[in-house]
Amino acid sequence: MASVTFDRVDKSFGDGTRAVDALSLDIADGEFMVLVGPSGCGKTTALRLVAGLEDLSAGEIRIGGRPVQDLPPRRRDVAMVFQNYALYPHMNVFENMMFGLRSRGIEKRKAAERVDEAGHVLDLSELMKRRPGQLSGGQRQRVAMGRAIVREPHAFLMDEPLSNLDAKLRVQMRAEISRLQRQLNATTIYVTHDQVEAMTMGDRVAVMRRGMLQQCAPPQALYDRPVNLFVASFIGSPAMNFVQADVHDDGVRVGDTMLSVPRGREKLAAYRGRAVALGIRPEHLRRAGTGSELRLPARVVLTESLGPTMLAHVEVQGRAVVTDAVIEAMSDGPDVVLGRTDDTRVPAIATLEPDDAVAVGDAIELALDPRRLHFFDLESGEAIDE
Ligand SMILES: Nc1ncnc2c1ncn2[C@@H]1O[C@H](COP(=O)(O)OP(=O)(O)OP(=O)(O)O)[C@@H](O)[C@H]1O
Ligand SMILES: [Mg+2]
Repeated sequence: MASVTFDRVDKSFGDGTRAVDALSLDIADGEFMVLVGPSGCGKTTALRLVAGLEDLSAGEIRIGGRPVQDLPPRRRDVAMVFQNYALYPHMNVFENMMFGLRSRGIEKRKAAERVDEAGHVLDLSELMKRRPGQLSGGQRQRVAMGRAIVREPHAFLMDEPLSNLDAKLRVQMRAEISRLQRQLNATTIYVTHDQVEAMTMGDRVAVMRRGMLQQCAPPQALYDRPVNLFVASFIGSPAMNFVQADVHDDGVRVGDTMLSVPRGREKLAAYRGRAVALGIRPEHLRRAGTGSELRLPARVVLTESLGPTMLAHVEVQGRAVVTDAVIEAMSDGPDVVLGRTDDTRVPAIATLEPDDAVAVGDAIELALDPRRLHFFDLESGEAIDE
């Protein structure tokens, strides 16, 4: 296996579309890197550039430290697994996995050994004689993986390999691929627009928007410290809530509510007299109790029981944060935000306890955890990070 490096890579198409824009990213040997972002942000193009299926407009791509942009795809030694993994329908599992090896001139006995071994790892040994038509979706997906594995490539490139599977199988294959990747210690670039897949599978996750890398970090760091409004709204489900907050000497004001924020937020203090975006994740809102310091009044619009938790869709007093970044990040997500937005109220979601006993129409108070408040510059979208 080998490292893969994007060094200031640009890709423009003939019609002027800039699909990848100044992308610099280092994927370590053996690392599982996930590229995530909304539709059209350049994920597939980035993979195709590594595979040699597209030419770079500028920059350099290195595999194992060696520039590859002038090498034809066959000589780059990467294996790509697509969403539509076309297996040969008239060949059985064994023959499907053998095919690529034989055409690469690998000796028959050696090829068969590799296929047997991959079949064992993927739990396909019993199915070697079956044709694709006689396999389940997940089994077919494993054969497609097997075909990539037997090539013993420098790196695996996977483009939404699970998106054709039903939800349950996807969860199962997600775990399967993670396990396999660790077992093989295989450098992997995995593309998805599903942020749950990204968070659960990646050693690191690279979030892209409009061809540009926004942030690359381990999943927990992305969740805890998003660098801008786009990453903040893209990562997390349900998505982070946003409301405008006016910065004062002793805290921030949301609607009519003053919230004192912890001292020592000097960068935030520099925004005194101006509005910023306040972001709060649904899971960091609770029903306020007697001890709660920071409280925000809210009106309940809808409740949804999920079993272990309850989602309360509410409206809070304040002004909405309506920036391109937030709209774009949400456009791909499953989140439905209920409640109306105007100059005085903003829809939000709180993950409450099932026995919080709130009902539609209730006026409640939500408690905020002062350590879990995110602030962003309204114009640049950048996090106001201390
Ligand atoms: N051959 C092409 N010619 C012109 N534009 C292209 C071409 N291929 C892709 N694009 C454009 O480049 C941008 C990035 O496309 P890409 O397929 O990389 O996005 P993606 O992140 O993989 O999206 P999705 O999640 O929908 O698969 C899009 O605006 C797309 O329309
Ligand atoms: Mg794509």
